[in-house]
Amino acid sequence: MSGLRNGPLAPGIAFITGGARGLGNAIAVSFAKEGSKGIALVDIQDDATFQEGKSAVEKYGTKCITIHADVTDESHIERAVAEVVKVFGRIDYAANFAGISGPLTAVVDTDTNAWRKVIEVNCVGVWLSMKHELRQMIKQDSIDVESGRVAQRGSIINCASVNSIQSGAGSSGYTAAKHAVLGMTKAGALEARSKDVRINCVSPGFLRTKLLDEEFMKATGSSMLGGPEGDAAWKTFEDRQGMCILVKRYKFSTDACRRYQVDKRRSTRSAM
Ligand SMILES: NC(=O)c1ccc[n+]([C@@H]2O[C@H](COP(=O)([O-])OP(=O)(O)OC[C@H]3O[C@@H](n4cnc5c(N)ncnc54)[C@H](O)[C@@H]3O)[C@@H](O)[C@H]2O)c1
Repeated sequence: MSGLRNGPLAPGIAFITGGARGLGNAIAVSFAKEGSKGIALVDIQDDATFQEGKSAVEKYGTKCITIHADVTDESHIERAVAEVVKVFGRIDYAANFAGISGPLTAVVDTDTNAWRKVIEVNCVGVWLSMKHELRQMIKQDSIDVESGRVAQRGSIINCASVNSIQSGAGSSGYTAAKHAVLGMTKAGALEARSKDVRINCVSPGFLRTKLLDEEFMKATGSSMLGGPEGDAAWKTFEDRQGMCILVKRYKFSTDACRRYQVDKRRSTRSAM
């Protein structure tokens, strides 16, 4: 039937930074499930993590390549884009998920170089990735689309965070970078729309990946990723979704936060 999609949802080629593990890898697996012809995992991980991420994708019969590249280095990103185009001919979908949590300390206690690092990875890295993905997308023809749909030269998703719209004490670097990702996504989307490329971002809340675990382990000595202690710790994190500011700044208990949120449901939340 004209205008309706009857093939795979995502038949093109996907380029995923931070793709070796965590959310980036989950996205790569989703692309594989939805019929992508080729997937590139771009990351700075060790061989074992890359291999694990690649195997998860290949389970669905999708060709997967791994590229060791640091998103903070423009020459690495240019090389990664060129390599994917050499192997697969084009890039249809890009997901910019390389990221770090950075220092989770108060401004007055934060090491400046550690602060700069989170800006470099989470902000400059996303901008560099978007720049070179977009350069490739605007010079390629549209992927085949159903009759009646506008041409689609590509689609880019940047990973922001709930911290792109609100904040928490002890997250000034992460928050600054994620606010910037939201802003650069808006600017990029306005520039790219006339070239048949879509740019959007997602802003997830807490998710149980290794991103938070390193800092959590430093603070508590145990991992939140497994076992009964991890489950209990994670539950606390989940309970705090959207409540961090209340807990940290106003020293609310979790129950007090819940009551506060119910009371304030119709008004603005935390530090927007
Ligand atoms: N986990 C959460 O609660 C959460 C919530 C909101 C947003 N996010 C965002 O999701 C994205 C993915 O995080 P995750 O939770 O999957 O964490 P993760 O640590 O499992 O994955 C991040 C990946 O990025 C890679 N990476 C880090 N620095 C890089 C660099 N310089 N160049 C290339 N790759 C690099 C890491 O090697 C890792 O594989 C990040 O942007 C993060 O800020 C995570």
